[in-house]
Amino acid sequence: MPTEPVLDGQRPTRADYEAATRERWISAGAEITTMLLQGADEEDVLEHIVNVAMEIGSADTAALILPGLQGELTAEIVHGNGAGNLLGLVMPREGMSWNALRTGEGHLVDSLAAKPDLHTEALRAYGPALYAPMGTAEQPVGVLLLMRSVGGHVFDAADLRRAQSFAKQAALALVLADARQAQAQARLVEERERIARDLHDLAIQQLFATGMQLEVVRRRAGRGLDKAGLIAIVDEALTSVDSSVREIRSVVRSLRDPDAASGVVERLRRESSLARTGLGFAPSLLITLDGRSVGDDAEDEELFDSVIVGALADDVVAVVREGLANAARHAQASSVSARISLSTQGGGVTVEVEDDGIGLGNVSGRKSGTWNLAARARQHAGESVVRDAPSGHGTLLHWHAPVTLDPAQGAPSPRP
Ligand SMILES: Nc1ncnc2c1ncn2[C@@H]1O[C@H](COP(=O)(O)OP(=O)(O)O)[C@@H](O)[C@H]1O
Ligand SMILES: [Mg+2]
Repeated sequence: MPTEPVLDGQRPTRADYEAATRERWISAGAEITTMLLQGADEEDVLEHIVNVAMEIGSADTAALILPGLQGELTAEIVHGNGAGNLLGLVMPREGMSWNALRTGEGHLVDSLAAKPDLHTEALRAYGPALYAPMGTAEQPVGVLLLMRSVGGHVFDAADLRRAQSFAKQAALALVLADARQAQAQARLVEERERIARDLHDLAIQQLFATGMQLEVVRRRAGRGLDKAGLIAIVDEALTSVDSSVREIRSVVRSLRDPDAASGVVERLRRESSLARTGLGFAPSLLITLDGRSVGDDAEDEELFDSVIVGALADDVVAVVREGLANAARHAQASSVSARISLSTQGGGVTVEVEDDGIGLGNVSGRKSGTWNLAARARQHAGESVVRDAPSGHGTLLHWHAPVTLDPAQGAPSPRP
């Protein structure tokens, strides 16, 4: 009598096979999550779900049945035997797909071909079937349908359990991906509002003021008066046009590249723009590199961004934020200026936030804000003071950190 070649303990047992299948379902589920986290296209993920389910479930045909626009359930993605006949099939309300979706419970059919009360004739071409709902009864996503040919091995309870938990995990990943997309959408709307505000408050106001200056020039020129005065006004208008161009350029940059990790200069501009709400007016922001105003020259901005990076960049931004917040909360000021200057000749980076408000008065004891500023300075062997402004009115926050420049960074050329 022929016997199977058995080496005791080496032939895979039924239990080994089950364990391996379970393992495969679990890692397939994890893979779906990873795909979605990495930002894969949802359509690709759905295709992938159907493919792996068909393979691991040893099915001849697999279909993903999803709710359509009119609330109907349609076989949206079908792979395997007879896929063409099933694609686009609308599932009847009283059928098994709907039942699985409504209840959140899957079920097995020994043979669709032999099922007396089958509602969908196209399914009669198949034998054993497994319906696994994706999602829960409260948050249904769809139904995963696995089928084998007529006469094929029937699916068992363990198959159902595993396919079902895979389908649930895939559904959860899809729901989370949707939520993330909605969040990204909300951020986009917020970002647009900020851009509109920036354009209105900074660029448009400035252009409006320039228009008025030119109006004055025209009136005076019409009367043939005061050549020197006219030149002065025109000069002023030109400066103001330059600065409008800069504002608009920075808004455009943030439009073009909203997701790119921003350089510190861009982050400071945002900080200043955001502070407007608390202050009730726009603070003035001056960022300088070796005394030159950054923004006049793209290379200066690049150099600034390449020197102030990492923890130092975070600290500089945080110091400006705290200074502006203090001015908004305590100063009752009518103007505030934030100045950030970087000296590449060993001077380091200095942040000053100055307001023309009521001044410090007799503040007793340090509070967390000033304490944090000092701590941030100490980390870079720097210093931080908050004191009365030298003008006699208001408060000056002075924060400084030495910066050791990489010799290669002295010039704005990248290191080899
Ligand atoms: N720009 C400012 N104008 C007036 N007072 C200020 C200013 N900045 C700080 N102060 C005073 O110093 C105190 C300490 O500031 P801070 O440590 O930032 O604490 P907080 O802002 O949480 O009150 C404030 O409570 C306020 O009385
Ligand atoms: Mg504070």
